[in-house]
Amino acid sequence: MNSFPDQFKALVIGATGGIGAAFVALLEADPRCGSVVALHRHSQPALDFAQENSISEAALAVAAEGPFHLIINAAGILHSDKFKPEKKLGDLHYQQMQETFLVNAFGPALVLRHFSRLLDKERGVMASLSAKVGSIEDNRLGGWYSYRASKAALNMLLKTAAIEIKRSQPNSVVIALHPGTVSSALSQPFKGGEIGRPAQDAAADMLAVLDGLTPEDSGQFYSYNGARLPW
Ligand SMILES: NC(=O)c1ccc[n+]([C@@H]2O[C@H](COP(=O)([O-])OP(=O)(O)OC[C@H]3O[C@@H](n4cnc5c(N)ncnc54)[C@H](OP(=O)(O)O)[C@@H]3O)[C@@H](O)[C@H]2O)c1
Repeated sequence: MNSFPDQFKALVIGATGGIGAAFVALLEADPRCGSVVALHRHSQPALDFAQENSISEAALAVAAEGPFHLIINAAGILHSDKFKPEKKLGDLHYQQMQETFLVNAFGPALVLRHFSRLLDKERGVMASLSAKVGSIEDNRLGGWYSYRASKAALNMLLKTAAIEIKRSQPNSVVIALHPGTVSSALSQPFKGGEIGRPAQDAAADMLAVLDGLTPEDSGQFYSYNGARLPW
C-alpha cells in the first residue's frame, strides 16, 4: 500500500463477512497500516444497515480516530433464511426486494453520506463492494433480480456521490469494486465453495487495485484484477 502514507488509517464496514474479515486481517498485518477500525452489526459502535441511525452514530463515534485514508464497505446480501435469488419474474416479492436493496444500496448510500467526510483530504480512497452481475451491460443470463438491481442502484449511488464529493474533496477516490467469485457464506449455496477463490486472495488483489487508484479514477467500477467494468 505504498501510495498511502506511512501509518495510514483504514476502516472496514461489514468486517465479519468473508471478504470484510480478510481485508481487516491483511491491513492489520501491513506494517505501513497504523490502525484498522472494523465495524459490523455487533461491533462497538455497531453499524447495522437495518438501523438507519446506527450509520450516522457510528460515523460520529469513530470520527476522532480518523481522518481515514482507506474506507471499504464490504457488507452485502444475496440470500437469507427467508429468500434465495429469484430465478424468474414469478419469484419476485417486496420483502426480498426491500431487504436486498436496504443492505446493498440504501445502507451503502448512507455510508457515503456519513463516512465520506471522514476521508483524509490528501489521500482518501473509499470503495464499496459491488458485483459484476450488477452491470446492466454485462447481464446475459438474467435472474437474480433483486441482487442485480440493488448492485446497479449501488453503482449509480456511488457514481453520483463521487461527482459531488470531488467538488469539496478533489483528492478523493470513490469507486465500486467487484471482488470476483469468492468462497464465503454469501456464495456458498451457489457453488462458491467450489468455484470461488479464498477471500484473502481476493482481498489482496483488491488492496493492490485500491493502492493504484488516483483521483482521476474516481466514479468508476473496477474489478479485482484492475480492469474497468461496464456499468
Ligand atoms: N462472495 C462473492 O463471490 C461475491 C461476488 C461478488 C460480490 N460480492 C460482494 O462482496 C461483499 C462481501 O461479500 P462476502 O462474500 O464477504 O459475504 P458474507 O461473508 O456473507 O458477508 C456479508 C457481510 O455483510 C454484512 N451484513 C449483512 N447484513 C447487514 C446489515 N443489515 N447491516 C450491516 N451489515 C450487514 C454481514 O454481517 P453479519 O456477519 O452481521 O451477518 C457480513 O459482514 C458483498 O457486498 C457481496 O455482494 C461477493
